[in-house]
Amino acid sequence: MSADQPKRLILNLFEMNCVSHITHGLWRLPDNNRHRFNDIGYWIELAKLLEDGGFDAVFLADVTGAYDTFRDGPETALREGLQIPSNDPLMVIPAMAAVTEHLGFGVTFSTSYEPPFSFARRLSTLDHLTNGRVGWNVVTSYLPNAARNFGLADEIPHDDRYRKADEYLDVLYKLWEGSWDDDAVIADRVGNVYTRPEGVRYINHVGEHFAVAGPHLCEPSPQRTPVIIQATASPAGVAFAGRHAEMVFTGGSTREQVSRGIESIKDAAELNGRPRDSIKVVVQAGIVVGRTLEEAEQKRLLFEQNASVEGRLAHASLPFDPTAHEPSVTVGQALAAEGKSEHPAASFLPVDVTVADFIRDFVASWEDQFFVCGTPETVADSIESWLDDDGIDGINLRQYHSFGTAQDFIELVVPELRRRGRLPQRRAADAAPRTLREVLFGGEARLQEPHIATRYRGGANLDSALLPLELGSRAPTG
Ligand SMILES: Cc1cc2nc3c(=O)[nH]c(=O)nc-3n(C[C@H](O)[C@H](O)[C@H](O)COP(=O)(O)O)c2cc1C
Repeated sequence: MSADQPKRLILNLFEMNCVSHITHGLWRLPDNNRHRFNDIGYWIELAKLLEDGGFDAVFLADVTGAYDTFRDGPETALREGLQIPSNDPLMVIPAMAAVTEHLGFGVTFSTSYEPPFSFARRLSTLDHLTNGRVGWNVVTSYLPNAARNFGLADEIPHDDRYRKADEYLDVLYKLWEGSWDDDAVIADRVGNVYTRPEGVRYINHVGEHFAVAGPHLCEPSPQRTPVIIQATASPAGVAFAGRHAEMVFTGGSTREQVSRGIESIKDAAELNGRPRDSIKVVVQAGIVVGRTLEEAEQKRLLFEQNASVEGRLAHASLPFDPTAHEPSVTVGQALAAEGKSEHPAASFLPVDVTVADFIRDFVASWEDQFFVCGTPETVADSIESWLDDDGIDGINLRQYHSFGTAQDFIELVVPELRRRGRLPQRRAADAAPRTLREVLFGGEARLQEPHIATRYRGGANLDSALLPLELGSRAPTG
């Protein structure tokens, strides 16, 4: 990017294969389609809308357990449709890919419970079926219930999850990058040779957590390794991102906090010999836009009035119920009354504030650094400031209404951002499709050196493992 060219916005829609992802209570709004998540038609309509409207990607969150800490059970989550029921995010991608050519797909999958071999195959399959439009949001999972769904008594400790994830990615890189040569498949009908056997190899990985022989079952896909995405702020997570991630979700309640987070991520990339701009930084953004300020404010009011505080408390896995106490009771007293003073999460709570203030602050935290309500011009001003002053590269647009949020953004904000050179102009009908990595970085479809995955190209280094990940220090919490 030249100095006089404005920084271009990476534009993703934040989604989940469920009724209520983050804006709890709002699925009830008129014409909201969220209850249609079981219907393949929902995903097809959404994909067409986003591609036509100029979005780069749809980002699919996922969890593999129920939110059952709040009120000691899953009842609130179930009543609210809060990420339960929820379907597999990988399965809707082929439907969306079949009706689009350019839209990217960021999909979440956890490294903590299911072994890497079959996951490598699933992602390679998706990378083939989408012509290289897949990114993977690497998570290590934070729900205690998820651990119990996969045979564990409780969550794996935080930093151990990242160590395990590091080996998980090592196995995947060996399969994706090292197991097959580009010219292994020759599809020679006359000679009856589909694959030259000498172009394919076992990986024979034996590590602390995994033993995987290979060979990978898929031939090389357009990107081989999908775009590696991650959401983190902890020292261990940032160290992991420095080694692996190409796009990181971050956030913060103040400009200083955000900029510290971004700098630490870029520092971590540099520590791994990678350029600072080899990791794109994306934040979750709340945007309420109207043709006039009054129209925008009316929408915001509608969202505020219908938002479910209980849903948000359950989503935050709060170890106590602030709504069950007199407003003047302090958080500390409420915790004690519920016998939760020693709960691991209690140490993060402001024990001296009243539950009334706690709830008020909790609700207000929704409208953080990356929230704007206004006209297309004021929204575009904010986005420009996020890009230029906060140093972010893109947004994951939070949905208050499906498909209203995306439609509003496409109709009102996209044209304004295009006028300001922050989004590419409408693509020509015959524009050649690009892989997600090319869309995000403008370079090659495949990962480039010095990314650590490239060390296995052509079968090199397969008998070695990555050096142990140097994790920063952190309090030993879950
Ligand atoms: C925008 C955003 C999206 C996330 N999506 C998911 C998700 O879909 N599934 C999940 O298990 N965790 C998700 N997380 C949580 C992260 O994976 C991670 O647990 C969290 O950011 C804390 O990481 P840290 O302990 O390294 O700081 C998300 C976090 C953020 C900020």
